[in-house]
Amino acid sequence: MRKITVAVDGPSGSGKSSVSKETARRLGAAYLDTGAMYRAVTWHALDAGTDLSDAEAVAAAVKAADLFISTDPDVERITIHGTDVTEAIREPFVSEAVSAVATNLAARAELVARQRAIIAAHERIVAEGRDITTVVAPDADARILLTASEEARLRRRGLQLGGTQSDAELQAQVLVRDAKDSTVVDFHVAADGVATVDSSEMDFEQTVTAVLEAIKAQA
Ligand code: C5P
Repeated sequence: MRKITVAVDGPSGSGKSSVSKETARRLGAAYLDTGAMYRAVTWHALDAGTDLSDAEAVAAAVKAADLFISTDPDVERITIHGTDVTEAIREPFVSEAVSAVATNLAARAELVARQRAIIAAHERIVAEGRDITTVVAPDADARILLTASEEARLRRRGLQLGGTQSDAELQAQVLVRDAKDSTVVDFHVAADGVATVDSSEMDFEQTVTAVLEAIKAQA
């Protein structure tokens, strides 16, 4: 099979993780969830009692992180210093703290280097996050920005969390986090050469089809 790297970016609740994972399966490719890497190092920093406002301490913790992430789209598994944090990294306390790590430039540089190494180690891979199309893999064979209206993103995240969250909690999880993340990476506007897929009015299958078509048009 031909070598292919696909880069997908988008805001929270755009469906990029589930859509990218399914796209990887259909392409017979590996899958890299870069957000999970930011979440895992954040979980570890919190667990170790690192002061997240201490930029040097956060950067040092990220550089020293012994991180493993599965790139099999059918095996969701991430460990840090040997601890399986696959489920723990989805907890709201991690979502709320993650931007403190993601806005640390030294921490980003370290994770970007590791993400590039993982991508380079795979013949076929779909990598998703916030800066894959622009920073991590600007030379990818296909680059897609997956967007959705604010309303659609809040609705989806609410469903994902089991419908138990208040509107204010959901807004904190989706909009406040996006606003913080946007201070270091722009994932709302497609960079030159990046195809936009707006999933607001699409169901899951339609979105996967649109992404596969966008890939075919570029790669
Ligand atoms: O994609 P997900 O919502 O799991 O990402 C969690 C967090 O990781 C984001 O809110 C953002 O702070 C950070 N992130 C990032 N760059 C990426 C992927 C995620 O800054 N490429």
